Amino acid sequence: MKIFVTGGTGYIGSHTVVELQQEGFEVIIVDNLFNSDLGVLDGIERITGTRPGFECFDLTDAPATRDFFSRHRDIGAIIHFAALKAVGESVEKPLEYYANNLNSLMNVLSGAREFRVPGLVFSSSCTVYGQAAVLPVTESTPRREAESPYGNTKMMCEDILRDVARVEPGLNVIALRYFNPIGAHPSALIGELPLGVPNNLIPFLTQVAAGIRDELSVFGDDYDTPDGSAIRDYIDVVDLARAHVIAIRRLLEGKNERNHEYFNIGTGRGLSVLEIIRAFERATGVKVRYRITPRRPGDIEKVWADTTWANEVLGWKASVPIEETLRNAWKWQQHVGRER
Ligand code: NAD
Ligand code: UD1
Repeated sequence: MKIFVTGGTGYIGSHTVVELQQEGFEVIIVDNLFNSDLGVLDGIERITGTRPGFECFDLTDAPATRDFFSRHRDIGAIIHFAALKAVGESVEKPLEYYANNLNSLMNVLSGAREFRVPGLVFSSSCTVYGQAAVLPVTESTPRREAESPYGNTKMMCEDILRDVARVEPGLNVIALRYFNPIGAHPSALIGELPLGVPNNLIPFLTQVAAGIRDELSVFGDDYDTPDGSAIRDYIDVVDLARAHVIAIRRLLEGKNERNHEYFNIGTGRGLSVLEIIRAFERATGVKVRYRITPRRPGDIEKVWADTTWANEVLGWKASVPIEETLRNAWKWQQHVGRER
């Protein structure tokens, strides 16, 4: 069974391709290499023994996307990862974010409809919940107005998928709402490749531990949380990748109850920034220099997932302990060694 993975050389995509191939699926990736490079294919091949199919083009190019579908008529399902994802940058360049994230989804959906691909899994985000009034958040927690154009593209893509699935009974969609994906493959052959100064906590922290940066700024210690730092639900990227394989099987086996479903993909446990620093030090024996700085504008105080629905209905559960995840992130940092 052939799975079309958009954005498959990216961070989460590459880990998912590994899990798909290890489960016997054939994979064809499309990526424009805007935020990834071809070396990722070598990593995937070294881990799995199989080099996935790969084509380099931009999914906002409608004729190229249609041509791709017309040449691959045996696609059984799609996982759509391709998107721009830097929250701060999206505030500076809203048009680029809307154009890329919405047009690529619409082109992929048009291909799925025309060439009768029955299933699509979409990368959504817990960002759709914003700062929820009640924690943990369930899939029926109301979505909040997005804080950024990036977040808004996730909301809009979810809505596009809902509306299309409603009138296309032959197309089944699962939107996975990721919490905070972190870590790397235990082989240290693939991982996250942040461009320039990382915005996200774990890549910044591992670069501080590696001596590439002086110290980590802990953004705020005056939140209403036990230690004052903000709380997130950090999900291991391999656990997250496994959720996609399970979602694909659910679609292929027709087990979905509706033709449009959402699942929270997190651990169900919230950890503060200071707890993450301590867990990293425990897991690796490496000290992390940090300093408390003011809150980062736009940050929410706390969020973590209620994963009951994913556990019971999808049959998926996070399994990698946080220390192991952080050790893998550290191994990966030592492997890449420097910034891109
Ligand atoms: P990533 O940037 O590592 O991977 C995305 C890939 O898509 C990149 O390789 C990029 O080159 C490619 N791409 C982007 N636009 C494209 C286009 N128009 N045509 C072809 N290729 C294109 O990002 P990631 O962290 O792996 O995220 C994957 C998905 O998960 C994204 O949709 C992202 O919004 C979503 N997501 C990520 C996180 C996170 O923390 N990483 C959290 C929630 C949701
Ligand atoms: C951010 C995005 C979210 C996106 C996710 C993808 C914002 C507001 N949200 O989530 O939409 O889906 O990335 O990974 O940007 N922190 C520090 N110091 C740092 C970096 C981060 O203290 O140098 C703290 C943050 O304040 C936050 C936590 O660490 O409390 C996690 O931050 P980060 O990794 O950037 O993810 P989010 O902000 O949760």
